[in-house]
Amino acid sequence: ILVLSACGDDGDGGGEYGLVQDGTLTVCSDVPYPPFEFEDADAPSGYSGFDMDLLQAIADNLDLEMTVEVVGFDPLQSGTVLASGQCDIGASAMTITEERMANLDFSDPYYDSLQSLLVPVDSGVTSIDDITGTVGVQQGTTGEAFANENLPEGASPEAYPGDAELWTALQAGNIDAILQDFPVNDEHAQADEGYEIVDSFETDEQYGFAFAKDEKTELLEAVNEQLSALREDGTYDEIYDRYFSV
Ligand code: ARG
Repeated sequence: ILVLSACGDDGDGGGEYGLVQDGTLTVCSDVPYPPFEFEDADAPSGYSGFDMDLLQAIADNLDLEMTVEVVGFDPLQSGTVLASGQCDIGASAMTITEERMANLDFSDPYYDSLQSLLVPVDSGVTSIDDITGTVGVQQGTTGEAFANENLPEGASPEAYPGDAELWTALQAGNIDAILQDFPVNDEHAQADEGYEIVDSFETDEQYGFAFAKDEKTELLEAVNEQLSALREDGTYDEIYDRYFSV
């Protein structure tokens, strides 16, 4: 029998996971990225969203406090932030990719996603092939990579640090479209009838929680165990229904 010893466990509920701070799950995230992460004064961590609620449920089950540190997405996805030891886990609607796996470990997938194109309703654009001008993308994302490969001639990608900057730029008319994850563009389209998603792309993306490579194996295992427990006891579905209509 293989006994996983709780070596280093000082009994305060966290020592065994090699946490940055004993008893606390320190989460790094690029906020805002609704509906996955956004500020919420009523939430125990100060943040809500699909990622945040899932992690809060996991932290509760593991008897850990959850605290959130806001970081840029690009250094998070490249592994820099997590390698520095600032956080235990990265939660940022982050797609599991081969390239990222060179610098990060990922949890089991927890959400299936796709790319999409958001434009003003009067733009005359009905698909990616109609696009001319500039297409806003978030720096370091799979949306940026998709735009680099799939934009037609005459259109060019322009990278912004985050979703908030992209949305401001689109509303100001500084860019002609936003290419990014479907649920996030959909959030804008639902909130403002002046904008619509006119094209989507089945990129077969799956989100995972990220960890410094080879540094957090026990925490990663615990998170995976909790993810399947939450799927089994209905908590995952309950959280899913808070943010997504079927
Ligand atoms: N899923 C995309 C990726 O992994 C975009 C994620 C951006 N997330 C964020 N919180 N800004 O590249």
